[in-house]
Amino acid sequence: MCGIVGYIGEKQVVPILLDGLKSLEYRGYDSAGIAVEEKDGIGLYRSKGKIADLKEKIGGVEISATVGIGHTRWATHGRPSDHNSHPHCDCKKKIAVVHNGIIENYLELQEELIAKGHIFTSETDTEVIPHLLEEVYKGDLYEAMYEVSKRLQGSYAIVAMCWENPEVLVAIRKDNPLIIGIGEGENFFASDIPAILAHTKKIMLLKDNDIAVIHKNKVAVFADNSLVEREITEISWDAEAAQKGGYAHFMLKEIFEQPLAVQQTLKGRVVKNGTQVDLQEVNLTADFMKTVNKVMVVACGTAYHAGLIGKYAMEKALRLPVEVDIASEFRYRDPIIDEHTLLIVVSQSGETADTLAALREGKKRGARCIAITNVVDSTIAREADDVIYTWAGPEIAVASTKAYMTQLVAIYLLTVYLGQLLGKISPNQGAAWLKELSLLSQKIQQILDSAIPEIEELAQDIAGKRDVFFVGRGMDYAVALEGSLKLKEISYIRAEAYAAGELKHGTLALIEDGVPVVALCTQMDVYDKTVSNIKEIKARDAHLIGIGYAGISSLEKVVDHALYIPETDDFLSPILTVVPLQLLAYYTAVARGCDVDQPRNLAKSVTVE
Ligand code: G6P
Repeated sequence: MCGIVGYIGEKQVVPILLDGLKSLEYRGYDSAGIAVEEKDGIGLYRSKGKIADLKEKIGGVEISATVGIGHTRWATHGRPSDHNSHPHCDCKKKIAVVHNGIIENYLELQEELIAKGHIFTSETDTEVIPHLLEEVYKGDLYEAMYEVSKRLQGSYAIVAMCWENPEVLVAIRKDNPLIIGIGEGENFFASDIPAILAHTKKIMLLKDNDIAVIHKNKVAVFADNSLVEREITEISWDAEAAQKGGYAHFMLKEIFEQPLAVQQTLKGRVVKNGTQVDLQEVNLTADFMKTVNKVMVVACGTAYHAGLIGKYAMEKALRLPVEVDIASEFRYRDPIIDEHTLLIVVSQSGETADTLAALREGKKRGARCIAITNVVDSTIAREADDVIYTWAGPEIAVASTKAYMTQLVAIYLLTVYLGQLLGKISPNQGAAWLKELSLLSQKIQQILDSAIPEIEELAQDIAGKRDVFFVGRGMDYAVALEGSLKLKEISYIRAEAYAAGELKHGTLALIEDGVPVVALCTQMDVYDKTVSNIKEIKARDAHLIGIGYAGISSLEKVVDHALYIPETDDFLSPILTVVPLQLLAYYTAVARGCDVDQPRNLAKSVTVE
């Protein structure tokens, strides 16, 4: 995700901006840039690639400017390139802007601005902002930002500077983080604390829709055009902890980012009063979909597990056969696939070698191919016919959490989209699923707010075990597979998942006194069957941990420890059930002293076969 830093003071601004951006590198980015107040205008330096490339571009030029803004960009609208990098300027290059987030109505604004004669030089949504500021600027940058804020839809953290107004930087935030760093004779804006930690530990947090104006000696925050007070906090973290936003590990941070990631992935895609799905990057027609006789989902690792949920969801909603395959298997087994197949490849990185090869194989055989990926302009995104981006933001921990979560959201959106296209989902059913989907980020937050002490205690016990089993039926089984993968990859405990009804056909032999078995019980049509399986396991003295809905299942009567999640539609329950499993894996690995973010032998992106 993008990073922002802004400085106003008396020191040379370039090294402050570059160091600030460097400390935001962990967020992931593909280009960077700065804009500074020079004597004869705004100095704009931008480069695709790393901060080192930007430094090279600036070269050895001595820049004495003491006011400026900088940005690391993680491409969303427009591919990574010098000209798409931020900052972006107005026509006269008097105003420069950096922006995190998405301006949803940028096309409409751009059209309006072009009609007024504005010249655009990038493919970004951001560029409408400096041009809008240019339109309304009458000598006061705050006033201009206030006016422009009325026109913007979407999410944003924006910092602007104006060559004619060098004594201020002005910023606004909505649904995107932005803080003020308070210094002595200098002040800062940043999207995240690490960017300014070397200079100050005094932080002012902004609220949604706040507009902030910083001078070198003063700070003013406005809400609804009136001056307001915002609290100043003293930060006690060290630089490394701050990079992780105060979390002990990236994995935990990413687990906590899931409510926001779900919102971002849904944003702009549920339309017509919550009744329909709009997937802008997907161009399927009802006529084409009527020729499709099979859906194939191909992926690796966690993404494969997301694909398994896709099978349950799409078969139920579309009544089309759905096969799910591991990419490294698919590519070498002469798959039965042709122009009547809809191929869906799922990949966080968009670069996994086997998944890419599967996509190429599918296309060669005539299949229409949709990519679900988290990385804009990745190879898989470029080569697929259609793309659904998961807006999870960069995922750093090797064990995938928020990317999996947003892959599920994307799969559900696609399911409803196809169901509506084919007329297989009634308008009421579609609207009901979409409504519930939009409530899930809050429900994930409820789990994060309440379940941790209990899970930490369970993890202490599991940390000492050799084997752990996960069971469930239907979608619960697919989530059990993901739960077991999470546990084994970061804690190195042997963890296996089974369809609950299958255990008695062999694996039950492994159940002995005290072996932990995690049973997922959210599929209410088979709840009683799962409970029967739980009893078979319990009769062999296993330690049973059940996961079910608060209020409607009385799991505590049949398991040793019941973990409750908020009630939801069984169809969507994987989005909630995976959260306690992620936390269980995380706290178990911590209790065992494992390297949570960098587990042995594993890589985040596997670009070899
Ligand atoms: C690696 C990672 C997994 C990931 C898999 C697929 O094995 O460790 O977390 O699920 O690759 O990666 P992709 O980027 O294609 O989703």
